[in-house]
Amino acid sequence: MLTWESLTMQTNEHYAKEAEECLFANYKRAPVAFTHGRGARLFDVEGKSYLDFIGGVAVSSLGHAHPALVRAITHQAERYLHVSNLYQLPEQIRAAQALTRISGLDRVFFCNSGTEANEAALKLARKHAVEHGRGHRILVAENSFHGRTMGALAATGNPAYHKGFEPLPEGFTFLPYNQLAAWQQAMGPDVAAVLVEPIQGEGGVVPGTLEFLHGLELMCRKQGALFMLDEVQTGIGRTGAMLNFHTHGLLPDVVTLAKGLGGGVPVGAVLARAEAAAVLVPGTHGCTFGGNALACAAACVVLEEVEQILPEVELRSRQLVGGLKALPKVKEVRGAGLLLGVELEVEAKPVELACLQQQLMLNAVRSHTLRLAPPLVVTQLDVEEALEILGRVLAG
Ligand SMILES: Cc1ncc(COP(=O)(O)O)c(C=O)c1O
Repeated sequence: MLTWESLTMQTNEHYAKEAEECLFANYKRAPVAFTHGRGARLFDVEGKSYLDFIGGVAVSSLGHAHPALVRAITHQAERYLHVSNLYQLPEQIRAAQALTRISGLDRVFFCNSGTEANEAALKLARKHAVEHGRGHRILVAENSFHGRTMGALAATGNPAYHKGFEPLPEGFTFLPYNQLAAWQQAMGPDVAAVLVEPIQGEGGVVPGTLEFLHGLELMCRKQGALFMLDEVQTGIGRTGAMLNFHTHGLLPDVVTLAKGLGGGVPVGAVLARAEAAAVLVPGTHGCTFGGNALACAAACVVLEEVEQILPEVELRSRQLVGGLKALPKVKEVRGAGLLLGVELEVEAKPVELACLQQQLMLNAVRSHTLRLAPPLVVTQLDVEEALEILGRVLAG
């Protein structure tokens, strides 16, 4: 077991070198290794303290070492971690009840990640189409991101991510985000579903317009195709509402979730209307770890806590947006709640690296765009300090 003493005997560089020798090289990792965190702060093996304004990429909704979350997963681990979906799981039922209450949707399928949630949604859409005599085509957006497994990758509108992995499952039509007319033209009886993010996260934090999202919903309703929203990044309080679609008054048939739902414990979910969910009968889909007791104990606490802090999220969002807009070299601030994209006049990567040097963690999501997704429990002082560091870096 890695003890505090053994962790701190080594430097950040030491861990970076060890990682290179034993891990796949599929990530570009910064040479920083952490011992622990509290709230929106992390501490590295050399004793330096960082402000975490990326939150494990919109995952650490309750910040680090949140007492209620720690208590819940410790308590669950002491009873049992996993018994499989062959049996009744009270923790899974509680998490599903919370999600159906919050969303207004009827049924929940649990998995472990965003890509798995989208994979299940895509299968649901195909099966639903077969049973309703529709074609199998799925309309998706250019510049979108839905995950890295074959189906979700095929739905992802970024050709760079496809390269080298073809052939991918066919039947996806890519259309320009926020341009409703193109989607209306592409719609027909051969379309099973539309799948979009209400705010494109990896695409640079690009919000869908009200007109676009409502137009898609209406078009799907008229045609009998499923309207599916990928809220993997935007869900669970991230944008100031429990689910982003609430802010637009949308009524999706299917919603996918992951990231913030477990507050750092891997958990994904698909929410659906009962009629749509019903197509996945026994034997059509499954997931060994999906909805296990540990994951669902975490999700229950996250849902409970996040609902209570939504007004705070809105306040911190306003503080952050106002502060960001006043910084030098900032062209635009986009997004909602605590999922913000900052369009810069300069390249974003050097800014990300300079901020890390100054112990502020954020992420260059596009060539000129920074992404900020701090824990939802971030404090007023944390935001002040982060703005001060970023301001210093941008002015320098
Ligand atoms: C909107 C969206 N969908 C799906 C995914 C994939 O999630 P995961 O990495 O958990 O598979 C992501 C991850 O960034 C995402 O932002």
